[in-house]
Amino acid sequence: MPTTDFAINGKTYAVSIDGCPEFRTGKDIVLSNADTDIVYNQPWYKKGYTSERFLSNEEFAYLKTGLTASVKKIITEELGLDTEGFTLEKYHHFVSENQDHYKVVSRTRDLFSADFNFPIEEMIPKFEKLLGFSLTDMDPKLKEKLHIIVRINRPKSNDYNPPHKDIYEEVDKNDYIPPFVNLWIPIAGVTENSSLPMVPGSHQLSEAEIVRTYDGGVVEGNTYRVRMIKEWGGSHDLERAEVKDGEVLFFSSHLIHGMAINAEEDLTRVALEFRLFKA
Ligand SMILES: [Fe+2]
Repeated sequence: MPTTDFAINGKTYAVSIDGCPEFRTGKDIVLSNADTDIVYNQPWYKKGYTSERFLSNEEFAYLKTGLTASVKKIITEELGLDTEGFTLEKYHHFVSENQDHYKVVSRTRDLFSADFNFPIEEMIPKFEKLLGFSLTDMDPKLKEKLHIIVRINRPKSNDYNPPHKDIYEEVDKNDYIPPFVNLWIPIAGVTENSSLPMVPGSHQLSEAEIVRTYDGGVVEGNTYRVRMIKEWGGSHDLERAEVKDGEVLFFSSHLIHGMAINAEEDLTRVALEFRLFKA
């Protein structure tokens, strides 16, 4: 069975890529530049990502409490389980079967439009202040409000995206680079063993140095919509981002990231993931 290796903080992981579409390199161009990457003028542009404090301890606690209550309610409704003593970090003790987990995450995907009140409109000014320009949660092309995704990853589970760049789908389908920035906010269980792996500086690599699919990917038997990247500048190395409670991880939409294996022994990881466009 075909496999490929990735290293996260020096630890090697071999993953099956059986069923993956063909891998090839692109043209000798760097896609990220002053016109195509809205974080081009940020002091952290060279690295491609940064962590910034945006919530007070009280605000963070409020967010986490609200999310805990929402996930707990979904578990009760979907699985009819007793959720006495539930915490997000211990989620996997309550939801251990894959089928049950899929039932829960099918609902958490739409949590923000349904019953959980994360006031994204109130948060946007905080992100604008940190980045120094105006942002919107309205996709300028699709004229749709963006979704915030709640990602719940149990320890050692293999439900993570392969290494990818968020821009590739639009680049491949429409020869268009959407003007957005990625945001990733830790809620629970985010540690040096579970944080989001990044490839610093990878947005500045030529496409001729990036080996990837042009139509989704298959990792460990799971099919993903994102184009899977197998190699970048001859490397397979990723680094876990350092990001603490109350902070937001901003990263370029051109940056390679993914393979977010939760390598903790007994902690479920919960994070919010979304994009904001330049207004
Ligand atoms: Fe992504």
